[in-house]
Amino acid sequence: MSNDTTLVLGATGKTGRRVAARLRLHGTQVRTASRSSATRFDWSDPGGWGPALQDVTAAYVVPPPVPGPVHEFVARAVAAGVRRLVLLSGRGADTWGESTFGLDMRSAEDAVRGSALEWTILRASNFDQNFDEDLFHAPLVAGELALPAGAVPEPFIDVEDVADAAAAVLAQPGRHAGRTYELTGPRALTFAEAAELISRASGLPITYKQVSPAEYTAALVEEGWGVDDARHVAEMFVLMERGQLAEPTDDVAAVLGRAPRTFEDYVVRAAASGAWRP
Ligand SMILES: NC(=O)c1ccc[n+]([C@@H]2O[C@H](COP(=O)([O-])OP(=O)(O)OC[C@H]3O[C@@H](n4cnc5c(N)ncnc54)[C@H](OP(=O)(O)O)[C@@H]3O)[C@@H](O)[C@H]2O)c1
Repeated sequence: MSNDTTLVLGATGKTGRRVAARLRLHGTQVRTASRSSATRFDWSDPGGWGPALQDVTAAYVVPPPVPGPVHEFVARAVAAGVRRLVLLSGRGADTWGESTFGLDMRSAEDAVRGSALEWTILRASNFDQNFDEDLFHAPLVAGELALPAGAVPEPFIDVEDVADAAAAVLAQPGRHAGRTYELTGPRALTFAEAAELISRASGLPITYKQVSPAEYTAALVEEGWGVDDARHVAEMFVLMERGQLAEPTDDVAAVLGRAPRTFEDYVVRAAASGAWRP
């Protein structure tokens, strides 16, 4: 057991809780933090970050949903003696151009890259687990996934692979310094194909419906989303339609020395656990 503590932010979320479990298994001393974790950490309350950062040598950073706070976090991390940061970001963040999507992640990348700390950025494609732990779960259970996703496929990645990659990078000081990895699954699927696989494995009738970005934005607002947040999600689909994010990469293998998990593997596991039981 090392005396070094690794801070895991977003520790109750899809990646953070999986990263923390892997690190603990590996014998690393872990401090999990978020607004509802034992160590409280709120991106909007820098005054309260001290306990989270105490005696930390490395941190897994899930950025906040707004641009800005990671700059102060990096400064505070340097002052606290943190040496390494692993940042979660989005696939192709340097190709998003004038889009309003992902300003939060791009700001976090700038903060981490501009620091004197050892850093690694993990840019992930859309997660498989968005279909059972996040945005697409409720529509699937209701039997219709309506998205402005079009015919351009997405190389969905299993969050288990993102967590494996983060844990591997955190366990190998120096080896991934200054690297940005574009983490994808092994093959790209359209959202219609993804819905079809989920329908087959779960036995639930599910249809895919193509809608425009404006219709999707309106539907999210009707569900209670703020207009700006709804527009940002719709904007992600506009970016995907450009096709620049559709090709799978070899970066999971570059970090882990093995191929990424398939979408089918994810679907079978999630269906067996009852994820889409109505
Ligand atoms: N979903 C995708 O397909 C995808 C793909 C690539 C990149 N990303 C990026 O991944 C990030 C999300 O990561 P994730 O999916 O692992 O997390 P998640 O499942 O969305 O959960 C968010 C985590 O952040 C914590 N959190 C939320 N607001 C916070 C605040 N104000 N202060 C401190 N902690 C806060 C939450 O815990 P508490 O509620 O306890 O605070 C939770 O642990 C986002 O930046 C997203 O853009 C997502």
